Amino acid sequence: MNTPSRDLDAPPPPAPAGARRPSDSVTTMTEYVLPTHTNALGTIFGGQVLAWIDLCAAICAQRHTGRTVITAGIDDLSFDRSILVGQVVRLHAKVTATFRTSLEILVMVQGEDATRGDVWPTVTAFVTFVAVDAAMRPVPVPPLLVEGHEERRLAEAAAERRERRLARRHQGRSP
Ligand SMILES: CC(C)(COP(=O)(O)OP(=O)(O)OC[C@H]1O[C@@H](n2cnc3c(N)ncnc32)[C@H](O)[C@@H]1OP(=O)(O)O)[C@@H](O)C(=O)NCCC(=O)NCCS
Repeated sequence: MNTPSRDLDAPPPPAPAGARRPSDSVTTMTEYVLPTHTNALGTIFGGQVLAWIDLCAAICAQRHTGRTVITAGIDDLSFDRSILVGQVVRLHAKVTATFRTSLEILVMVQGEDATRGDVWPTVTAFVTFVAVDAAMRPVPVPPLLVEGHEERRLAEAAAERRERRLARRHQGRSP
């Protein structure tokens, strides 16, 4: 069956009310690795990276929602390469998808040796936040206006990850 194709000269359909683009809330952070951030080998603590991921993602989520947000979960993490004392941690967070009261943020973390000009991927994280009101009750989040192939691909993959998370949550509640 043929589906009607959109007239390419026609203006795009209107965005849902209050919708925001991923680019509206992109958040970046740059951190210098001090001895207090490292273990006995001089490489950064995974927990420190996790704290920066959570912070960077939370700022991004607050920019999108205009609300206080609570971390509901962080998906599995694996650290591909270490970052040493004296090197730099670069974080980049953006919204991939919004649901009813929750939204998913993708955080990409890179290591950088500023003296040599090297940059390398270290870890990628998907963080889910829930927007809450003053009484800490979940509240609806503004929709995300996705444009282009890459943003649509990220949003579709986010919806699949959400199904898996909610299934795990449901299983965790079973007796
Ligand atoms: C996250 C939290 C607010 C959810 O509250 P709740 O009363 O269970 O609310 P609901 O079941 O209505 O879920 C609200 C939203 O959270 C989402 N959610 C809940 N648990 C989730 C999880 N583990 N992973 C991903 N999303 C989750 C739900 O899908 C729902 O999103 P939707 O409205 O977009 O569909 C609540 O569990 C909480 O406060 N947890 C502690 C969070 C915290 O303290 N974080 C700081 C670090 S410890």
